[in-house]
Amino acid sequence: HWGQGPVVAVDGPAGAGKSTAARRMAERLGFLYLDSGAMYRALALKALQHGVDLRDETQLLHLLDMTRIELDGAGHQKPLVLVDGQDVTRLLRSPEVNASVSVVAGFPRIREEMVRRQREMSRAGHVIMDGRDIGTYVLPSADLKFYLTASLEARAQRRLQDLTGMGFPADLAELAEEIRHRDALDSERAVGPLKQAPDAIYIDTTDMEVDHVVDMMLSIYRQRVES
Ligand code: DC
Repeated sequence: HWGQGPVVAVDGPAGAGKSTAARRMAERLGFLYLDSGAMYRALALKALQHGVDLRDETQLLHLLDMTRIELDGAGHQKPLVLVDGQDVTRLLRSPEVNASVSVVAGFPRIREEMVRRQREMSRAGHVIMDGRDIGTYVLPSADLKFYLTASLEARAQRRLQDLTGMGFPADLAELAEEIRHRDALDSERAVGPLKQAPDAIYIDTTDMEVDHVVDMMLSIYRQRVES
């Protein structure tokens, strides 16, 4: 098993509300929130900044070996992501990173190293990790697994709010198209594809407020893990 404390996996497509729900659930339980997507984003960002060819897996792997990624998920309203000690939280959401991250996340050796780091970070438990392959591959013996999804329209709408809230210009139709494209890449890749684990609890968040989603997840947690 995964060490001393409980481990919760949250997977699903982009914009399903995973990160907000997982972060709030972690706050309520006093757990560490680990955003695995931020790690792929961090590498994509660093590659863009250093002019590393995003199609070259070997170069990316070399870059990753020299990169420290810290997910500071405890005790923050908005968890910080540090790359080599620098706060890059906001940059990780930029359109440039959005456009390149699926390529980076598609490489088997990159994923292997990311997964190694993710398992390491969750070893002590008391952790909620969100991503695409957490329940299926990264933490298959997690104590509890959720699969969150929502309609494409709802997901695009949420991304629009997130982006405009952070001061990035955005267009709903373009976002929907980008999400559709990213879903396809994430679901169809050979390694670590987005997939619901057979033992994951499926929640369609299309018509749900995030607070309701969190309450539901917490009550399931209390029934299944704490009792
Ligand atoms: O959840 P997100 O949008 O921040 O994820 C960014 C990208 O990383 C997305 O294209 C899917 C990919 N990803 C992945 O392949 N595996 C994960 N565990 C998390 C994210």
